Amino acid sequence: MVRATRSRPARPVSIALRLTLWYALSAFSLIVVATGLLYWVLVNSMYQEDIRDLADNLNNAQLLLPPSPTAEFEGPPEQRPSWAPPHQPEIYLRVLDAGAHTLTETPGMAQQLPPPTPAELATISTLEGTKRDIVSSSSKPFLSLIVRIPGKSAGQSSRFMQVAMDREHDEYLLARYRERLWLVLAGSLVLCSLGGYLIARRGMRPIEDIGRTAAHIRATTLHERIGTDGLPAELSSLADTFNEMLDRLEQSFRHASQFSDDVAHELRTPINNLRGEIEVALGKSRSREEYREVLESCLEECARVSRVIQTLLFLARSDTAIGILQYEKIEINGELRTVQSYYEAAAAEVGVELSVLPGDAIHAELDRTMFQQAVGNLISNALAHTPSGGAVRLAARAKQSSITVSVDDTGCGIPAEHLPRVFERFYRVDQVRRSSAHNVGLGLAVVKSIADRHGGHVEINSDVGHGTEVRLILPASDQSP
Ligand SMILES: Nc1ncnc2c1ncn2[C@@H]1O[C@H](COP(=O)(O)OP(=O)(O)OP(=O)(O)O)[C@@H](O)[C@H]1O
Ligand SMILES: [Mg+2]
Repeated sequence: MVRATRSRPARPVSIALRLTLWYALSAFSLIVVATGLLYWVLVNSMYQEDIRDLADNLNNAQLLLPPSPTAEFEGPPEQRPSWAPPHQPEIYLRVLDAGAHTLTETPGMAQQLPPPTPAELATISTLEGTKRDIVSSSSKPFLSLIVRIPGKSAGQSSRFMQVAMDREHDEYLLARYRERLWLVLAGSLVLCSLGGYLIARRGMRPIEDIGRTAAHIRATTLHERIGTDGLPAELSSLADTFNEMLDRLEQSFRHASQFSDDVAHELRTPINNLRGEIEVALGKSRSREEYREVLESCLEECARVSRVIQTLLFLARSDTAIGILQYEKIEINGELRTVQSYYEAAAAEVGVELSVLPGDAIHAELDRTMFQQAVGNLISNALAHTPSGGAVRLAARAKQSSITVSVDDTGCGIPAEHLPRVFERFYRVDQVRRSSAHNVGLGLAVVKSIADRHGGHVEINSDVGHGTEVRLILPASDQSP
């Protein structure tokens, strides 16, 4: 059997690894720069020190130099000429005449450093002389300084004095220092990487905690939250945002399960009623008239179920914004009068005066059917809660960016504690009426959904015993979505 293999995407480099690398690299670079600088300072100061030493030796020798030295620097210190430098094995001294002939020199100097050529001496015109690094015939590093000593009297020619210093010891010290430096650098590279890793792990721990909590959250553990104690400021705000998202999710989830409970309840009641009525009817033989009554009652229940299902479908479509609104230019006051005419008979039946307050023509682009449905739901609520002799008034006002349509009644009103929930699906203030055959508790939810879909919103004011006003606020034509 041939099995298709899918190549796994390359694992991205973790933040902890990146942080470790960055930290180690920057800390190590700093150490390299610092040690390099210190090494350079050390090399330079040793060199300067050597030059100073040479110059001192040269000055001393010059002061003591007899007019025409011939003796060599041989023998024990007490027998050596007074102008010879103090006995220092690494210092060599040589005196030359203008023709580059050696007049005198420290023993062994000729083997290490051959005398300069006349051409070289010719370039030394100043009294400051020249200094140069020379490698001796035995490959030793030397620092040499040659100065010109002008003749004392008019006929006397210039002489030259060369001082040289064996820098082997310096080189040796520097080489030892470099060896130790490499060890220090290798050690600090290891320490920087380790330090970077520990710092990165410590910094990433709160993020890992957040990830673990997030991975743990299921429908049944939606109440869990990320602990924000001890989190750094940036992560604390991230955790807060995450917790707020969980709050919203939990609330939506609660609403969704409440909604499905309510749907089940609302559909079960009429279906149980239907079943009960049919069972009773079939329990014994009945007259034609009795069967007719049962069937009529069943038809009423069926109509209720079908209405609930249709409304739920409408709301579900609104939630997912399925179905495009049929926008058309309508005149709001004219529409209100049309809807009023639909409800006139019902208003007359309950003895309530239903009127549209006069106003200028207001034009808006809305979905006519939905607008009529929203206003109709508000009128039907108002009529249902206004006692005989009361009044229901419809009015429309236009502002620059919005149009407000209000339905105002002189009915029983809604207690303040219910107001925030009346737009929820299946929410009814009067629990006794929950079982009412006509009220499902979806009317205001539909009104809200219609307002939302037009880019508007709904507001409600109510005073118990005095009446209720519901305002449908819709965007003006040029603001319509
Ligand atoms: N004008 C009003 N005066 C007093 N109470 C009202 C008014 N309008 C709505 N209510 C209260 O708000 C609740 C929710 O209203 P909604 O229109 O959503 O549902 P319903 O009228 O009970 O049922 P449905 O409209 O689905 O047939 C109503 O049960 C009622 O108690
Ligand atoms: Mg209603």
